[in-house]
Order: sequence, then structure tokens, then C-alpha cells
Amino acid sequence: MANQRAGILGTGHSYPEGILTNADLAKMVETSDEWITTRTGIKQRRKAAPHEYTSMFAVRAVRQAIERAKLDPSDIDLLICATVSPDQILPSTGCIIQAEIGAHNAAAMDVVAACSGFLYGVSLADSMIRTGQVRYAVVVGAEVLTQYVDYTDRQTCVLFGDGAGAAVLGPAEGNRGILASKIKSDGRYEEQLYSPGGGTRRKPSAETLAAGDHFFKMKGNELFKVAVRSMTEISRDVLEQGGSKSDDVDLFIPHQANQRITEAVADRLNVDTSKVYSNIAVHGNTSAASIPIALDECVQSKRVNEGDLVLMASFGGGVTWGAVLMRW
Ligand code: ACO
Repeated sequence: MANQRAGILGTGHSYPEGILTNADLAKMVETSDEWITTRTGIKQRRKAAPHEYTSMFAVRAVRQAIERAKLDPSDIDLLICATVSPDQILPSTGCIIQAEIGAHNAAAMDVVAACSGFLYGVSLADSMIRTGQVRYAVVVGAEVLTQYVDYTDRQTCVLFGDGAGAAVLGPAEGNRGILASKIKSDGRYEEQLYSPGGGTRRKPSAETLAAGDHFFKMKGNELFKVAVRSMTEISRDVLEQGGSKSDDVDLFIPHQANQRITEAVADRLNVDTSKVYSNIAVHGNTSAASIPIALDECVQSKRVNEGDLVLMASFGGGVTWGAVLMRW
């Protein structure tokens, strides 16, 4: 049925067992637990072991989400994997996950939108469900970012962690489901966060590897300001589109980039801190996985309940940003 609003029917998440604490990092670069905690809110992050790769975590998260949605992998029509740390260039990590879980009726693909990838995927899946093109979709944000982190660069190495989070979308009941969504990007800010090596522009070679061109480079300070401004604006846009005010929001799940970004956005939106979810202390910044991991934690801990108004907003490399407003 066309124009059927989409809702989230099940969620799941997974992360590596390995933990990298601030104390561990202080042994590797000139930093301290005090600096990292006050500037970012991060105390530890998960780190994949050398034999672990992105789809391993994605598969676990997706299986959990499908099971909780009381569906079978064969019911899934669309599988979107949001990642900037794919298993390999070809095929997509989405196709690798599809084969692993047996979602043989799905169209599978990757979305590359850094930290906004999950909300990009949700927005696309919502549109396809509304138009009746697909009935059930899985969106998974999955990253092994620690592989792209330069552990001699203290500005970036303290931020990033690994993991995956997934959500199954399908036709929503009653007044529940996604009320509004919006995604945006601006490629002119490419160099605020990028990894230049390894593609066709700067081809992988012994030289690019030695130069560390495959590592993330970041202008953290500039990114901070653009992130706060963009997440605030796009959140206001979806609130308006959905006919809601920030006062109506029961739960705000921002991308977990930096606790200070989260607080600055919540403050500008006038969302009370009691309604803002944060797990950055234990996960760090897991890029596309950050919002779905947080969402699943909220579902499992009953921090979100039927009828709640949920606002999610993200910002990431590209630069990209997005927001989704939904009635749970
Ligand atoms: N330990 C100790 N000192 C440090 C560290 C560290 N880990 N990192 C930087 N410093 C130093 C700097 O060298 C600088 O020293 P100086 O004054 O002597 O030059 C000083 O601390 C201040 O540096 P700033 O960069 O101004 O610190 P800031 O408060 O901005 O914090 C941070 C840096 C944490 C990176 C912050 O800017 C930030 O979080 N930015 C946004 C990150 C983000 O949102 N990324 C995008 C999303 S992620 C994605 O898309 C995958």
C-alpha cells in the first residue's frame, strides 16, 4: 500500500570485546584521561581484534534486529549497510551481510555518509516503504574505524571506536512511525575529515601506506562548529516538518561524536538534558554505528516506550548531516 508510514520494528547491536581505555592511550600518545574526559566525554572505546572485520559485527546486529522484529531474513526486501570501513571494495558489505544471513530476497547496498550513514539509510528505506516499493528493510551502521586511526595522532586516536547497530523498518501501525526525515551534505568541506589514500585518486602503494594516507585526517576544531550548527538546524527542520516543538521530544539521540557537541546541540534546541541519550563514555565515536547502538540500548533498557517522540540527529565526514523524527 503506497504512502504507508514506516516504523522501526526491531533493533540490535554488537561490538568487539576488546576495550581501549584512556589510560591505554596515554601510554601511546601524549594525552591524559583528564584531557580526553573533559574535552570529549569519552572514557573507553571498543577495538576490534586483528582477525575481526566490519560485517562480523553487522551480521550479529542485523540477526538480532530481524529476530526482535519477529521476521525471517527471507522477508527482507532491502538491506542498507552504512559504513566508511567496508570489509573490502567489492562487493558491498551489504551484499556480504545479505549472503551471511540468507536475506536472499533483498536488494543490498552500502551507503557512504560517515556518521550520518544510518540516518541516510533510514531516510531512504522510509521513502521506499512509503511508496510501496519495499515492505521490510534493514538498515545497519557498522564500523571498524580503529583500523583507519593513526595511533600517533592524539587528536583523532582518542575519539573513534568499533561496533554495529541495526534497525528493521516496515509498515507502522496507527500514528506511530517516521514523521519527518531530512538528509544533507556539503562536499566543499571534504578536508575537515577525510582519508585520502587507497582509492583511485591516490592509489594504494607502499608510499601511500608509509605516509599514512589511509588514516583519518581531521580539523577537529572547525568540524566542531559546523557539527553543532548543522545538527541544530536540521533538527529544527524535522521538528517543524513533523508539526512538533522541541518541548514535545521525549528522547533525543544525537550522533555520539563528542559530549560537548551533544550538550551544545541540546542546549540550542532547548531539549532538557534528562531527555538526551549519551553512551559516548563507553563507546566513543563509532560513526555510522553510533545512533543505532544508542537506539538499541534505549529500547532494551526501556528508555524509549510506545508513543514517545524520538528525535535523532547526526553529522559526519563529507560533510553530511541528517535528522529523523519518529513516534515510537
Ligand atoms: N590530548 C591532549 N591534548 C590534545 C589532544 C589529546 N588527545 N588532542 C589535541 N590536544 C591539544 C591540541 O594539540 C591543542 O594544543 P595547543 O593549544 O598547544 O595547540 C589543544 O589540545 C586544544 O586543541 P583543540 O583542537 O582546540 O581541542 P578541542 O577542544 O577542539 O578538542 C576535539 C579536540 C576533541 C577533536 C574536538 O575538536 C572535536 O570533538 N571535534 C569534532 C569531532 C567530530 O565531530 N568529528 C566528526 C564526526 S566523526 C565522523 O564523521 C566519522
